[in-house]
Amino acid sequence: MVEEKEGVIKKKYELLEDLPGIGPATAQKLRELGFHTVESLAMATARELEPAGIGEKKAFAVIRTARSSISVSFVRADELLRMRQNVLRLTTGSKPLDILLGGGLETQTITEFYGEYGSGKSQLCHQLCVNVQLPPERGGLNGAALYVDTENTFRTERIVQMAKHLELDPEQVVKNIIYAEAYTSDHQIFLLDNADEVVKENNVKLIIVDSLTSHFRSEYIGREMLAPRQQKLNKHMHKLIRLARAFNAAAVVTNQVMAKPDVFFGNAVYPIGGHIVAHTSHTRIYLRKAAHGPVRIARLVSSPYLPEGEEIFKITGNGIEDVSEEEKVKPRRR
Ligand code: GTP
Ligand code: MG
Repeated sequence: MVEEKEGVIKKKYELLEDLPGIGPATAQKLRELGFHTVESLAMATARELEPAGIGEKKAFAVIRTARSSISVSFVRADELLRMRQNVLRLTTGSKPLDILLGGGLETQTITEFYGEYGSGKSQLCHQLCVNVQLPPERGGLNGAALYVDTENTFRTERIVQMAKHLELDPEQVVKNIIYAEAYTSDHQIFLLDNADEVVKENNVKLIIVDSLTSHFRSEYIGREMLAPRQQKLNKHMHKLIRLARAFNAAAVVTNQVMAKPDVFFGNAVYPIGGHIVAHTSHTRIYLRKAAHGPVRIARLVSSPYLPEGEEIFKITGNGIEDVSEEEKVKPRRR
């Protein structure tokens, strides 16, 4: 497809093989490296293409062509504003939580839910997989979900319950969730590195990694393993950002917490993953359980432009729901 824009002929390439200088053999090698689409190539660095036998100079040329094909280059701030206007919002299922997040989860960025076991991280992920399939007027993105599960806690039965509550066809909803269990951190990385084709072909608008850190935490033990662990986590998260940007999808990761033994006041727990995860997640939400029952407290801990704040929601048989006014005023049992 050739498109004329302000006198400049811009060519759009659909397949890797269409790019000048990329033959079928190189395209195959690129696929093996996890580059399946022109979009993913546009976000690559020259060094990443080296193992495909592409020298630096050629790599720059290929990336440049891929970028011009999908229009990624320097932009003026007004253009940036237009890009921001492409950001879509996905409902969590709870109105106060959506408001806390400025209207729901954003596409093109990573949202991180962290908290203790049972705080509702995976339940929120399940709910988002259903909600993403809703039409925009109901807070969805009319898209499919990709679920990378590292703890084997994904349950189709739960999806069916949530879908029924939203009056969606459960069979269809289940079909629109592409699931992969990651057995190790390397496997987890491999899955995401090879996800771009799946994302494109299935109109995936939500990519979930639940949990981001569990394998890394159990495999990389000891101080000397910290640097390689952080390096891998960093690359993994950047891959996730690239997918989210290239396909205008929402990205969600979950993370556990560790107790801070030396702190008496303030937050006595902190999320796993250190600075890398903290800086790469655009929006971080800390989840905790209320004293008892299904109520959960969500705290917006960091966001590029929203103030900190707290809201409550509950987990029921129907999924993620608002806490009613009566429930809020119910006196606590002593
Ligand atoms: P870890 O992965 O262990 O760190 O925890 P998590 O934060 O992912 O917790 P998860 O989202 O799995 O929340 C589990 C909690 O959700 C349970 O303790 C229940 O309170 C609630 N829950 C899960 N399934 C159901 C359900 O079908 N019905 C109801 N009412 N509550 C549920
Ligand atoms: Mg979980």
